[in-house]
Amino acid sequence: MALSDFPRYQLTFGPSPVHRLDRLTQHLAGRGGGATIWAKREDCNSGLAFGGNKTRKLEYFVPDALASGADTLVSIGGYQSNHTRQVAAVAARLGMDAVLVQENWVDWPDAVNDRVGNILLSRIMGAEVRLDPAGFDIGFRDSWKQAIEDVERRGGTPYAIPAGASDHRLGGLGFANWAHEVAAQEEELGVFFDTIVVCTVTGSTHAGMIAGFADLEERGGRRRTVLGVDASATLEKTRGQVERIARDTASLIGVRRDLRADEITVLEGWAGDRYGIPVASTLDAIRLSGQLEGMIIDPVYEGKSMAGLVDLVTSGRIDRDATVLYAHLGGQPALNAYSGLFTHTQRLDV
Ligand SMILES: Cc1ncc(COP(=O)(O)O)c(C=O)c1O
Repeated sequence: MALSDFPRYQLTFGPSPVHRLDRLTQHLAGRGGGATIWAKREDCNSGLAFGGNKTRKLEYFVPDALASGADTLVSIGGYQSNHTRQVAAVAARLGMDAVLVQENWVDWPDAVNDRVGNILLSRIMGAEVRLDPAGFDIGFRDSWKQAIEDVERRGGTPYAIPAGASDHRLGGLGFANWAHEVAAQEEELGVFFDTIVVCTVTGSTHAGMIAGFADLEERGGRRRTVLGVDASATLEKTRGQVERIARDTASLIGVRRDLRADEITVLEGWAGDRYGIPVASTLDAIRLSGQLEGMIIDPVYEGKSMAGLVDLVTSGRIDRDATVLYAHLGGQPALNAYSGLFTHTQRLDV
């Protein structure tokens, strides 16, 4: 089967915006870099509760959920999960119920961590929110199985969506489609992005891109480098999941060759010690992006991948003549739970 054979229920506005980051490019050039930086914006890809990367993945889950006769979407994430917020929005759009297990993935002291940002939006959209004290893990959880059983026991028909909409047969399709969308936008813009930088945690965003670009390469497209920046701080688990989902998705969409080892790159160095806890480089990246470009990024995911981009470009690890596409995957609502880090304006020397 080819990617275009899979049914897709459109939840996005259409292709997400792609634009240059000229001031960031200039700034990094002054610090040893040379690459030209662009962004593709999943943070404004949809009218559903601010959108984000999961909205794209869910475009391929919805036809499966509808075909199964489900009336309730059941999923799992941390208190400030962007993913569960997007599941709540999709359930609202479809007229379904949502049951969300929200675990204590991040030991974050903010008093309103379980009240503001993503979880607030999920409650507004009518989801049943179940707080659970369990810590961070991208695997399958008993609390999630329990939620599925509870829906069945009360006569509902659940559709189970794993953490990050990743470890699921269809999890990689949304970003395989993203890769095809990039290729079409390159044609329009007359540009070629030889390097993609993407944040990776549960893995299917990065994995889907790898599969999608492998598919394009098999159809005569040029090779490019996709650099995943780990934000999970459980590198081996995330790398394993990216590799498995990339291979499964590639074979699902009809890529005939095995993926090469150099196609699967997950870089460490910017996650800090724990998922969800920003480190100095994360906060610098958030301010840099805000003060140079007015582009808002979050302390859990994109702040970490942007910190990676900054170092990779200024160190020359990303070639000075490269054209880089930074995948902005969304996630800003979580900033509300991190307000204590930004009580004063701190202007950067840029
Ligand atoms: C804003 C944001 N960026 C990046 C990621 C990482 O994507 P993935 O879980 O598919 O690796 C997520 C979700 O986990 C996210 O919400």
